[in-house]
Amino acid sequence: MALGSKLATALPFLFLAARINANSSITAFNLTAISAFNNASILECWQITLPLTISQTAGIQGAAVQQLGNVSSMVWSSLPGGFAGSPHPAPSVQYNVILSGTLHVTIPNSSQEVTVVSGKRSLLIAADTANVSRTGHISSLLGKEQGTSLMIPTANNEIPPHKVIHAGACGKRDLEL
Ligand SMILES: *[C@@H]1O[C@H](CO)[C@@H](O)[C@H](O)[C@H]1NC(C)=O
Ligand SMILES: *[C@@H]1O[C@H](CO)[C@@H](O)[C@H](O)[C@H]1NC(C)=O
Ligand SMILES: *[C@@H]1O[C@H](CO)[C@@H](O)[C@H](O)[C@H]1NC(C)=O
Ligand SMILES: *[C@@H]1O[C@H](CO)[C@@H](O)[C@H](O)[C@H]1NC(C)=O
Ligand SMILES: *[C@@H]1O[C@H](CO)[C@@H](O)[C@H](O)[C@H]1NC(C)=O
Ligand SMILES: *[C@@H]1O[C@H](CO)[C@@H](O)[C@H](O)[C@H]1NC(C)=O
Repeated sequence: MALGSKLATALPFLFLAARINANSSITAFNLTAISAFNNASILECWQITLPLTISQTAGIQGAAVQQLGNVSSMVWSSLPGGFAGSPHPAPSVQYNVILSGTLHVTIPNSSQEVTVVSGKRSLLIAADTANVSRTGHISSLLGKEQGTSLMIPTANNEIPPHKVIHAGACGKRDLEL
């Protein structure tokens, strides 16, 4: 194939790549963390400090891409609607992606709570393992809908590099994704 016709074939893609740009308003990725302080669980809004970049991958150029660290496995789980949990520490440091249902996380002896539904704000991280939180947190399901989620433990129980933006769960303004 002549160089000219190769260029002609490539050009539409170049234009497409130029038009599809990531929403540059996303400059930092935040998520709610179930963390721990003084041997008790707490909710915090974390900002992940691993690289947030623009994808150069052919076909999805321009997509915003946030690294979330290395993980060890992936577990799907399901609970019936209305499930009322009891206090437990996180079994490992793990991301939790809510696929369906309305998760309600509360902390014993605390007014902290967060409600999470499926969608772009449905990623949490639980880091209140038994060595840092005596009692842990309570996970319940509001409403009748079955709760399904993906639990993704981090490699070697590592807590991803982050900074704490504020105490309490991330609010909508922290999650303008
Ligand atoms: C970028 O994100 C902001 C805030 O969510 C939104 O208002 C705006 O329409 C988005 N722009 C593009 C080009 O998607
Ligand atoms: C993930 O694992 C790779 C290979 O061991 C390592 O090079 C990299 O630094 C790890 N990434 C993070 C964020 O820890
Ligand atoms: C909550 O506080 C009460 C009174 O201080 C205490 O007896 C109880 O053990 C606490 N429960 C938890 C789960 O920390
Ligand atoms: C947390 O509480 C447990 C149970 O009371 C206790 O065995 C452990 O030593 C405490 N850990 C810390 C770091 O205070
Ligand atoms: C608690 O255990 C987790 C998971 O094994 C580990 O990553 C973390 O470093 C431990 N924290 C402390 C304070 O010992
Ligand atoms: C994450 O938090 C920072 C600091 O509050 C904020 O500037 C940024 O817009 C937030 N990111 C998103 C995607 O909402």
